[in-house]
Amino acid sequence: QAGVFTYDPGFTSTASCDSTITFIDGGEGVLLHRGYPIGQLAEKSHYLEVCYLLLYGELPSAKALEEFEHNITMHTMLHEQMQNFFRGFRRDAHPMAIMVGVVGAMSAFYHDSTDIADERQREIASHRLIAKMPTIAAWAYKYSIGQPFVYPRNDLDFASNFLRMCFAVPAEDYVVNPILSRAMDRIFTLHADHEQNASTSTVRLASSSGANPFACIAAGIACLWGPAHGGANQACLEMLKEIGTPDRIPEFIARAKDKNDPFRLMGFGHRVYKNFDPRATVMKQSADEVLELLGVENNPVLAVAKELEAAALADPYFAEKKLFPNVDFYSGVILEAMGFPTSMFTPIFALSRTVGWISQWKEMIADPQNKIGRPRQLYLGESQRDYIDIESR
Ligand code: SDX
Repeated sequence: QAGVFTYDPGFTSTASCDSTITFIDGGEGVLLHRGYPIGQLAEKSHYLEVCYLLLYGELPSAKALEEFEHNITMHTMLHEQMQNFFRGFRRDAHPMAIMVGVVGAMSAFYHDSTDIADERQREIASHRLIAKMPTIAAWAYKYSIGQPFVYPRNDLDFASNFLRMCFAVPAEDYVVNPILSRAMDRIFTLHADHEQNASTSTVRLASSSGANPFACIAAGIACLWGPAHGGANQACLEMLKEIGTPDRIPEFIARAKDKNDPFRLMGFGHRVYKNFDPRATVMKQSADEVLELLGVENNPVLAVAKELEAAALADPYFAEKKLFPNVDFYSGVILEAMGFPTSMFTPIFALSRTVGWISQWKEMIADPQNKIGRPRQLYLGESQRDYIDIESR
């Protein structure tokens, strides 16, 4: 059948669903969104166009793209009363905790887009979530540093709006740096969707019960938070800083190989990729560009990252286990250089992945085979037995 890919992923896997959105060939390091290679989309497209592609299956005409971008722009504001949710958290709350809470609470404010049986409500919910996630992430950051919320603007593109909401202060004008906006937009694109990863599978399972879209996306955010998944970008930068200097790399390589040591190289390895993660290749190029632009190309963390990558790739253990850098290995270096604290790395992953979660959510709801997810188990416990009174125990 035209376009149907067959390949031996090198391991037996039970497909949780069929999908037409994203294709990964882990053995070859291939990632396609609706058939388009991620490298071409990162170079030639931009995040909202990739959102349209993921949602509707085709690259948009100029008119369709203009309408879509206008629609997203018109939904970037949050209901003013939702600011109370942010203020209910401690100042030192992790922004991911705030995002889980605020996104889940959206169902209490946007009643006209919670009925998943209504296609128009699903469309409105999709646009609201994509549009408002940058505002929610930026306000979680502003709240954590005690600065006032900055409202989105309609004359800025998606990435520039997010940077301004994070870094502008009322006391002075914020000048958008177009190259940083382009780098930010590319990071959004590289994280947009990734087939049936843990958080996407969480969204699909939650939506199979008929839960409203805001609750399903909140469940995906909660799952993404884990350090083995979306939290790896934060954990990777913290690891690179713990290594500190290239002379300590052999110590950490040895620890990663030691089965008795729970330490793993953050940003390395993948459930599916047994070759380079194509996103990591683009991210590494972007790191060089952004850090040179910011005049920190001699950033010691980037130097450790590059030397660590080279050392791991030269080590037979990692080659034998087919462990390569993944999307999280370089992203933290870029985000820190752009001014973000490590606590904002996973929220940026979450706002980027919202379109992937929503595309997969919509695909599942439209699937005539869509039934409530009910995984079974292999029971290894006690066979049936009678109750024992406490006096006899
Ligand atoms: C993301 O699924 C997705 O698509 C996720 C994601 C997305 O876009 O949604 O791509 C985003 O989550 C990327 C992964 C981010 N996580 C990390 O970088 C954390 C560090 N990496 C790992 O913890 C690990 O690699 C996993 C969890 C990602 C995968 O673990 P697996 O399934 O155990 O990997 P594997 O089967 O390929 O491992 C083979 C061997 C195992 O050893 P043995 O059991 O054969 O003795 O390699 C070992 C693993 O223990 N191994 C590592 C390692 N990753 C795997 N050893 C040292 N360092 C590592 N990073």
